[in-house]
Amino acid sequence: MSDLSTVIEVAGALSAAGGLGYAKARSPRVFWSLVGAPVARVRFTVTYRATMDVCGLTVQPSRLRAFMVRNVARQEVQPVPPQVRRVRYSSTGMRATLRLPAGLEPADVSAASERLRHAWGVHSVHVVEVKPGFVELRMTGYDVLRRVKMPRRLPRNVTAGPLVVPVALREDGTAFVRDYQKVPHALTVGANQSGKSMYQRNLISGLAKLPVGLVGIDCKRGVEQGGYAPRLSALAVTPDEADGLLEALVGEMEERFDLLSDHGVSDLWGLPAAVRPVPLVVLVDEVAELFLVAAKKDEERRDRMVMRMIRLAQMARAVGIFLEVCGQRFGSDLGKGATALRAQLTGRVVHRVNDKQTAEMALGDIAPEAVFAATTIPPDRPGVAVAGDSSGGWSRIRTPAMTPAEAVAVCREYAHLTPHLAALAPFRPAVSAAPAPGSPLLKPRPATS
Ligand SMILES: Nc1ncnc2c1ncn2[C@@H]1O[C@H](COP(=O)(O)OP(=O)(O)OP(=O)(O)O)[C@@H](O)[C@H]1O
Ligand SMILES: [Mg+2]
Repeated sequence: MSDLSTVIEVAGALSAAGGLGYAKARSPRVFWSLVGAPVARVRFTVTYRATMDVCGLTVQPSRLRAFMVRNVARQEVQPVPPQVRRVRYSSTGMRATLRLPAGLEPADVSAASERLRHAWGVHSVHVVEVKPGFVELRMTGYDVLRRVKMPRRLPRNVTAGPLVVPVALREDGTAFVRDYQKVPHALTVGANQSGKSMYQRNLISGLAKLPVGLVGIDCKRGVEQGGYAPRLSALAVTPDEADGLLEALVGEMEERFDLLSDHGVSDLWGLPAAVRPVPLVVLVDEVAELFLVAAKKDEERRDRMVMRMIRLAQMARAVGIFLEVCGQRFGSDLGKGATALRAQLTGRVVHRVNDKQTAEMALGDIAPEAVFAATTIPPDRPGVAVAGDSSGGWSRIRTPAMTPAEAVAVCREYAHLTPHLAALAPFRPAVSAAPAPGSPLLKPRPATS
């Protein structure tokens, strides 16, 4: 009988261990919540002082404190580590808020983050200054970018604003959002198959749910954006159409400026809600198609388009027209106006690139480490990118995987939010009834016209 119970106990223990191993590989969130977090908490609490000491994150106590310890508490005077103010857990990791003693700065803690990560056995440690004298250690329990799952709820200070869309996950487990009020125009670059269209797909399905007009320019004959037609107020799929559409957008911008001046305000958000025009986001997939010309006769059109893009990028923020530009590279080799336009695109997201120069073009002005990080994105991780922050920092992000069909379904569901704009009416894509599965989203066009 005792043999049988031993066998049952051993089998139970083995299956529990097997279950945990399975959870660790297949469902790291569950494993972290059940096992990782309690273990990390104990390790953090027990080894905190010693770890900070060996990582060089302690300072000599003040004279008064040393006196009190020596004479009142009758103990040996020891160096002081930062005081732990708060520890919080989430399904991806834990966060500890530390009060820095005089003599330590956030950069000291950042410099030791790799050592702290190994000491506490967590996947990563990021250091963020929350206010003067306080830093937050953001630890992740596992590789959150392996299978991206966006946080269910976002902090209110992140989502405050009329045009904020969560697009991707940062490697510290927080959401990367596009906030059009803070960063009006953005540039996304990356090599073939690096995840640019996935980024736009996530962005469009977020924007589709907001009261905003979407304008698509996809000179790959609309293969990417054609499916979003039900939610698009305008779509251009050839450079000729793009030329006309950009002209209409510049016209719309000028009309909106007249409206602002009539009401004596300097910004779209300053207008009374009753007369405020709907904000517009212009999504350009493969910007090089607008710059490159095959024949001399097209040069005039190209210069016109580029000039209009630059005008929009320089002025349109105030009237609520925002640019979201995607391309493989974006350097002076694209020709006149390329660097002037790039300089206006504040937000930068760089996916895997084939050469360092491309990363430098987009991130060189942010930080050399950001350029290095972008050049080390592995090809087997499409969707991973380095994003410049509005604060001047940068972070590694990855978009959640989303199929084109899912994005198309969101656009269909929110088609009723598509605003009708008279100026853009000629470019409004025709929308057929829901296509049968597998049928092409766009009508085939002859290759020559
Ligand atoms: N975040 C992600 N998670 C998982 N898979 C992804 C992710 N991002 C992209 N992929 C996959 O990588 C492949 C390329 O993605 P995508 O089409 O977005 O690249 P691209 O940069 O637009 O390429 P191209 O320059 O050819 O248009 C697709 O098969 C896509 O499913
Ligand atoms: Mg693409």
